[in-house]
Order: sequence, then C-alpha cells, then structure tokens
Amino acid sequence: MSEQTRSETAEQTSEKLVELAKRRGYFFQSSGAYGGVGGFYSFGPQGAALKGNVEDAWRDRFAVQEGNMEIDAPTIMPEPVFEASGHLDGFDDMLVECPDCGESHRADHVVEDNTDYEDAESLPIPEVEEVIAEHELVCPSCGAGLAGQAVEAFNLMFETNIGPGDSDPGYLRPETAQGIFVEFPRLKEYARNQLPFGVTQIGRAYRNEISPRRSIIRTREFTQAELEYFVDPEEDEPDLESVEDVEVTLYPASEQNSEDGGELEITIGEAVDEGIIANEWVAYYLGVAKPWYGAVGVDMDRFRFRQHLSGERAHYAADCWDAESEIDGNWIELAGFAYRSDYDLSKHDEYSDDRFTIFKQYDEPKTVERATVDPDMSYLGPEFGGAAGDVVDELETLAERDRSAFEGDVVEIELEDESETHEIPVEKTGFSVDEETIAGEHIVPHVVEPSFGVDRLVYTVLHHAYREDEVDGEERTYLELEPEVAPTFVGVFPLQNDDDLEAVADDIVDDLRDAGLSVTYDDSGNIGRRYRRQDEVGTPFCVTVDYETIENEETTVTVRERDTTDQKRLPVEDLAETLAAIREGNLEFEDL
Ligand code: GAP
Repeated sequence: MSEQTRSETAEQTSEKLVELAKRRGYFFQSSGAYGGVGGFYSFGPQGAALKGNVEDAWRDRFAVQEGNMEIDAPTIMPEPVFEASGHLDGFDDMLVECPDCGESHRADHVVEDNTDYEDAESLPIPEVEEVIAEHELVCPSCGAGLAGQAVEAFNLMFETNIGPGDSDPGYLRPETAQGIFVEFPRLKEYARNQLPFGVTQIGRAYRNEISPRRSIIRTREFTQAELEYFVDPEEDEPDLESVEDVEVTLYPASEQNSEDGGELEITIGEAVDEGIIANEWVAYYLGVAKPWYGAVGVDMDRFRFRQHLSGERAHYAADCWDAESEIDGNWIELAGFAYRSDYDLSKHDEYSDDRFTIFKQYDEPKTVERATVDPDMSYLGPEFGGAAGDVVDELETLAERDRSAFEGDVVEIELEDESETHEIPVEKTGFSVDEETIAGEHIVPHVVEPSFGVDRLVYTVLHHAYREDEVDGEERTYLELEPEVAPTFVGVFPLQNDDDLEAVADDIVDDLRDAGLSVTYDDSGNIGRRYRRQDEVGTPFCVTVDYETIENEETTVTVRERDTTDQKRLPVEDLAETLAAIREGNLEFEDL
C-alpha cells in the first residue's frame, strides 16, 4: 500500500468518525471490559446492519448476477492445506523488535512511514535492515534506535490444535479462498465438470498482524468476500464488451516506477487494447467492480485501481491490481484482483490424494502418438534385483518425456538416491510408439480472483459519507449513506407521547416493515433531537406523526429527507409503497 502524507483536517474526520462509530453503535474495540485487545473489533447494531447490507449487495452482484455458486466452509483447516497452499512457508510479514521497550513493529511500515520508500514490503529483509540503519530509524512507541536490530520473517497465521494434544495442528484460515480451493474436487461436480464456473464465499479470515492499526482497516479478524473463477486459459474469455466503456482511474506499475508517472483516466476497453491491463479476466472484474463500489457509496473521486509492483505480489499471483480508496490522504487497499493461474489447484493436486483437474472433452476425438515401454523382466530382474521395479518406473517416465533417449542401442537411466548411471539395451525395454485415439485430456483450471475486504469497505463507505453542515443555526453531523446500505431506511416518530399519535405510528411501522423496509421507532426527546440522531446514523428518511395526521380527513404524515432536510406531507395510505420505490431506486423524493 502506498501512503501519502495525511492532512490534519482529514485526520480529524477519521477521529470524529471513530468516535461516532463507537457512540452510535457502528464499531468499537472488542472485549473492552478486559482492557480491549488490539486488532479485534465488534460491529454494533448499526455496523452489523451496514456490513450485512454491503455483503448482500456483493452477493447479489458477484454471485447471483454473475451466476456463481456460494459456499460456506470452515474457518479452521488442517496443516497440510497450508503446506500445499504455500502459506506455511510464504505468508510472512517483516518484524522488528525494539531493544528497549520490546514492542514489535512491522519493519516495512517503519521504513515507509519515515523515509521516501513507498513499497518497502517488496524489499528483501537485509535491505530493510540496511535502510533502518542508514536512516537511523527509531521505535515508533518509545523512540529507541532500531539500527542493528534483526528483521525477522513472521508468519501471520494463527495456529491451533485440532482435538486434544498437539499431534494435529490446524490454522485459522488467512483467506477464505483456501476453503474454496480444497473443495474443488466436489465443487466441479456441482458445476457438471464444465468450465468456466465461479464459487464465492463471504466469511471471516484471520491474520496475526504484527501491528494492527487504524481501527477496522487493519485487524486480526476480518471479513472477506471472495470469488474464485475457474477458467480454461486456452478457451474461455470474459464478456469484455459489457464493461469496455467503464471509465477507471488506473495506476499501473510502469507509472509507479517512472519518476513523472501518474494515474491514467481511461476506459477498460482502452486499457486492454493498449496492454495496460494485460489479463482480460482481471480487466473484466475491474469493470464490474468499479460501478459496484460507486453504488454502495465509495466516492469515485477517491477511488482507483493500482497494479502491484513485481516484488509486492503474493506468492500465488501472476498479476494483481488493487482497488484503493483515499482515506485521510492515504490510499488503502479495498480489494485485490489477482490472476492466480493454476498455482493453487496444482499444489493441492500434488499434495493431496484427490484430483484437482477437469476432464476437457475435445470437440472431435484426436489421434495421438504415445510412447510406451514393456521391459523384459527376465533381463531386469537378475540385473537389478529389488530395484527392478524402480527401473521400470524410470523407463516409463523417460519414454513419456524424452523418446529420443531410446534412439540409440542403449538407454541411460539414473535411479533416485543413486549417482550412478545405468545402461540398458533398448531391445530389453520393449519401447514402442503407438497411435491412440483420445476423447479429451485432464487440465488444471486457472483461477482469477476478485478478493474484497468487507471491513475496510465499511470504513470507507462511512468515511466518504461523513458530512457536517448547519441546520437552523445548529451544527449537524450526518452520514450520506446510500439507501441500499444504510442500516435503517426510515425512522418513525410520534410527535408527542400521545396514545392516538402512537397508535398511528405503530401501524405505520408495521406497514413499512411488511414492505421489507428497515424501520426504527423513536419517541424520546424533542423532534429536532430525534432527527439529529437518525442523521448521525445515516437514516435516509424520517416520518413524523403529528396532530394533523389524526385530525384531517386524509391521513398524512411529514416525511423528511436526510441530506436536504426537505419535508413533504404524504398520504399514509401509499407511504410504504412510495418509500419502497425510493429504496429500489425507482422514484426520487424530490419528484414527489
Ligand atoms: N485471497 C486473496 C487475499 O486474501 P489479500 O489482498 O491478502 O488477498 C484481500 O486480502 C482483502 O482483504 C484486502 O484487499 C483487504 O481489503 C482485506 N484485508 C486483508 N488483510 C486485512 C486485515 N488485516 N484487516 C482488514 N482487512 C484485511
């Protein structure tokens, strides 16, 4: 993640937002009664509703509308899964410990925060140690010098034991993706063994971050929404036409590496034509994601896609672009769009007992040449004794891989664990090349992966929605949340504690809930204060039941819109229908 200098005003916005989030039930550090624990947050009633709405919107766009399947796999998986996936060896961050106060820090963050380096994560450890020494960098907690301190690779996975004892180690998944990959042999059956197909999962992921920071932006337990899309790299193509006109801000690696490089305003179609986005599948998902982010409330003037620099890519990624949003003058990573090639499925195919391939049927059967051996065991037995079986294996492999080895009078083979070369007369190998008709072949699908962080998106949506203005001479704070994701869509208030007003308000609440709207009822405090409360949590509309409602022949109520504070008198009879139409985006309040 590249970081720019923070502006003081923006920093205040974040501080105010975090305070509002706690006070109004969006999110707060968890286990506060026990002093709190770094990197773990609870979402309160408003936050859980907002997060749920964001997840529903993601599910609708990336699972339902794309025709993908959704699964829900366990969060703890056994060690062999992560041996195969490479997380056991390669999922590390750089840790430096302060010699004085003992606090641990991410060495690359210490470098980025105090030097001109923007991407210290991609530097090798010895170079990071050198930069720390050269710049005389100090501990962010106590100010002691860090020069000379060893920088270590720290594995981010949380380890646990499955069952009693420690013979069966397991890990909390560091990405939901592995839960999809390991189930591939079964999932391909549900997809009727046909590529391409996609599998989504929304769930928790866990990383023992060295220095969790900035509230829910970097935590140790967070929610990911991931899509693994399995393709035949030789045959399948994305529907680029449907996204070619989507305008995007791109920050390619070449621009980041160039001294006067900058962001490009371009369409997806142009970016593919000009080779800026090399992978068409990645381009397709950037084109799908951009309008979706806008629809859930990310400010498109503070949004871009940035390509990973080569040293920054995860161990599995062939190419990767991040969706980034601007918060407090810094760019934060919201999602990664990686081309994982056949990395994961090949690894699981190699390490497990199952097949992670798909049988690809040819349009027409093909005739192919196949080299085989049929060794003369009456020769190999006496010659090699107990190793004769290994010799047969070796000859079979050689015939498949290099038939030219059988062109002379003898074949040379080396047995495993032996440095000696053995010569075998070709006539004793029974080597032949035969023609065979085959209907298809087993291929390892490639994977393109849009991987979204939900918590960071929730933070961005709140931050980009945060507004302050003045209403009737009073300062007001409100969240300009999109109706689709706002935790509550409408607040209903009886003007006063009066049985008649309350009865009508109760009926209205029932009607609105029946129409599928999320409603809150509030009868405490003066009406201005109730409006402010709903403004602060981002409720788009408030309905007030007053004496006019019960006295006039036509039952009407006041409906107030959050952003403009405009009020209109609307009949109760079709209130639910009207507000539901606004929620669906089929009607504008100003047109009423
Ligand atoms: N399966 C690919 C994968 O996990 P990633 O870039 O490591 O890729 C995807 O993670 C997204 O998850 C990130 O873009 C970010 O939004 C979110 N994420 C990662 N680490 C996080 C953390 N410690 N706290 C909150 N969100 C995090």
